[in-house]
Amino acid sequence: MFNSLFDHVDSIIVRDPAARNRLEVITCYPGLHAVWFHRVSHFLWGIGLKLIARLLSVFARFLTGIEIHPGAKIGRRVFLDHGLGIVIGETTEIGDDCTIYQGVTLGGTSLYKGVKRHPTLGKGVVVSAGAKVLGGFTVGDGARVGSNAVALKEIPAGATAVGIPARILHPDLPQSADSKTKEYFSAYGVTPNVDDPVSMALKGLIDATIEQEAKIAALEKMIAKLNNTPAVPGDATAASDTKRDLDAIKEWLKE
Ligand SMILES: CC(C)(COP(=O)(O)OP(=O)(O)OC[C@H]1O[C@@H](n2cnc3c(N)ncnc32)[C@H](O)[C@@H]1OP(=O)(O)O)[C@@H](O)C(=O)NCCC(=O)NCCS
Repeated sequence: MFNSLFDHVDSIIVRDPAARNRLEVITCYPGLHAVWFHRVSHFLWGIGLKLIARLLSVFARFLTGIEIHPGAKIGRRVFLDHGLGIVIGETTEIGDDCTIYQGVTLGGTSLYKGVKRHPTLGKGVVVSAGAKVLGGFTVGDGARVGSNAVALKEIPAGATAVGIPARILHPDLPQSADSKTKEYFSAYGVTPNVDDPVSMALKGLIDATIEQEAKIAALEKMIAKLNNTPAVPGDATAASDTKRDLDAIKEWLKE
């Protein structure tokens, strides 16, 4: 039990630059307390003590500002950062290592009882501040939902969704589902190294290479054309064609 507690606490320290030590996380993180309360209320819900489970979840909301329905399934090392205003509906499933920021709603759009109305988050999903994920669809492993986005349909693994309604930005961005390794966790859901001068210099080099390859291909085409020009001495048309092509090459090189 203590191993699992420290595992959770350590994963929070990895994901929150403001967290200084285990004692601080255990005492000052309502997102952690809300998950503890939920573990008990979910158990009570499972054994049929539904009203007591609901009462406990209401008490937890009073203390933490986070509302989690006792029926929701929450995986290991789930981090509700800041937590205030998070609402997690009855049929929600949250995979291991997910990070959910304040003001997030994992809600439903249908009023039918007994059906899956709320989303399923895969492993390592990041749901940014204020985002709403509404409906019984899946958000794939390592996906990220941007702040204030409203996601209404499935989000593929590793994708980033932003806006209202949410659209996909980077469908194939690699993102670790394992929050235990800091180097892979994208703090606050931001693309790693996007402003890194080395990454930007590399991008510049790649762009220049692509441009040069296009110019070389065009030159090769022109040279091949010149080679095919009949070398008839005194043929004025061929000579003028050759001169025109050479001029075109010079112009091209000047650009
Ligand atoms: C969604 C998010 C993860 C995207 O990060 P990213 O992959 O680095 O994306 P970028 O910053 O490169 O932005 C890419 C594009 O998406 C847009 N975008 C980014 N976040 C957006 C958002 N939340 N809503 C709408 N558009 C957004 C950018 O303007 C940019 O548009 P452009 O291509 O037209 O210029 C990030 O912006 C985000 O919302 N992080 C959440 C942080 C958070 O909740 N912090 C709480 C701390 S308490």
